[in-house]
Amino acid sequence: MSTLIVENPCQLQGTVNISCAKNAILPIIAASLLSEDKCILEDIATLEDVKVMVEVVNSLGAEVRMSNDNVLEIAAYNITSTETSYELIRKMRASFLIMGPMLARFGKIRISLPGGCAIGSRPIDLHLKGFAAMGANITLGHGYIEAHADKLKGNSIYLDFPSVGATENIMMAACLAEGMTIIENAAEEPEIVDLSNFLSKMGAVIKGAGTDTIRIEGVKYLKGTTHTAIPDRIEAGTFMMAAAATRGDVLIDGVVPEHVKPITAKLKEMGAEVYEFEKAIRVKATGRLQSVDIKTMPYPGFPTDMQSPMMSAMCVSKGTSVVTETVFENRFMHISELKLMGAKIKVDGRSAIVEGVEKLSGAKVKATDLRAGAALLISALCAEGPTEISEVYHIDRGYINIEKKMRKLGAKINRQD
Ligand code: EPZ
Repeated sequence: MSTLIVENPCQLQGTVNISCAKNAILPIIAASLLSEDKCILEDIATLEDVKVMVEVVNSLGAEVRMSNDNVLEIAAYNITSTETSYELIRKMRASFLIMGPMLARFGKIRISLPGGCAIGSRPIDLHLKGFAAMGANITLGHGYIEAHADKLKGNSIYLDFPSVGATENIMMAACLAEGMTIIENAAEEPEIVDLSNFLSKMGAVIKGAGTDTIRIEGVKYLKGTTHTAIPDRIEAGTFMMAAAATRGDVLIDGVVPEHVKPITAKLKEMGAEVYEFEKAIRVKATGRLQSVDIKTMPYPGFPTDMQSPMMSAMCVSKGTSVVTETVFENRFMHISELKLMGAKIKVDGRSAIVEGVEKLSGAKVKATDLRAGAALLISALCAEGPTEISEVYHIDRGYINIEKKMRKLGAKINRQD
């Protein structure tokens, strides 16, 4: 198990290039199952989670090829199975996104229930509600879901919560259904828009992605296409937070400023200087940040994936900050680790009260989930003395070469395998 060792505090300086968005690439790989033609995904970030999703579609019979220059080719003309391995689905929840495409194209699938994880129970009731509304016959048993549908039929589906995954799964299923599907109270994340753009290039007829109502007119056939996913707004936000927390000056290159507006707004409230360019953002902080309050919300609100990195910045800000996590029920696992580094945080239900301290102190800490690991990295960069972060595989799921990117900005950081 890899460990990251961060020697001492440092003010990050320089330019960091943002990779393609994990949470855009994963549904797009699933969507490639909707066509028998080849789909070509360029500039792929070879993240652990992307490798798992490629393994999932390959296990169904899709031909996959990753070139040296990070071009991924997927050709699902010869699907040999409509059942996935228990282990693979349990490995990564997002693999559940193959359910919509498989139901739409083959009319059946047997898939294991995706597990919960550190941040919450992660139910899938809204996904299943959508498929049932489109005529799928769904049975659950022995940890598996079996679903059949001779032909999915369009319908109106209201999501009780604007679930990203449910919106994506239902949108993909609706592309090959008979008639019109309307998803109401849909998620509006940029990754939904990117998936919609990919599907439209395949020949799907979709209107309203990025709003709370998405209309999909089913078609008979989808062709292959070529696509480059949007930049990763959460990776970008993580580096923005690290730049501000370490009182550095960093140009985050290859980001869509619109996608990180909530983070920009909060960093400005904290006293950081944030300059927006067409495809880049510069974050500069000369003094100690001011405290601020955040409440995580579905897009365009403050993203839940940025809650823990933001909390790390709050730990060394002046004053008291309040964090309210409304999206997941258990996304405070990083707090006990931050407290080992001297952070002063009290949890009260879904809120955490953070009393800023001048400096944190290096310690041996453990990454408990993907974004918590990133938060610990930010704190380590603000701490006196070495910090050792274990279970770094969590971080590798969503950040490519993170120690190389941080080292390029001046961090004294090494990986020990
Ligand atoms: C996506 O997860 C992201 N993952 C998550 O990123 C992100 O935190 C989350 O959206 C919220 O933005 C990918 O895109 C691969 P949801 P997803 O369905 O789709 C409840 C990261 O760090 N819900 O929007 O699983 C659920 O319990 C990861 O990159 C239901 O109740 O999130 C949660 O409280 C972590 N029933 C809320 O909705 C359902 O059927 C948000 O979940 C589905 C969800």
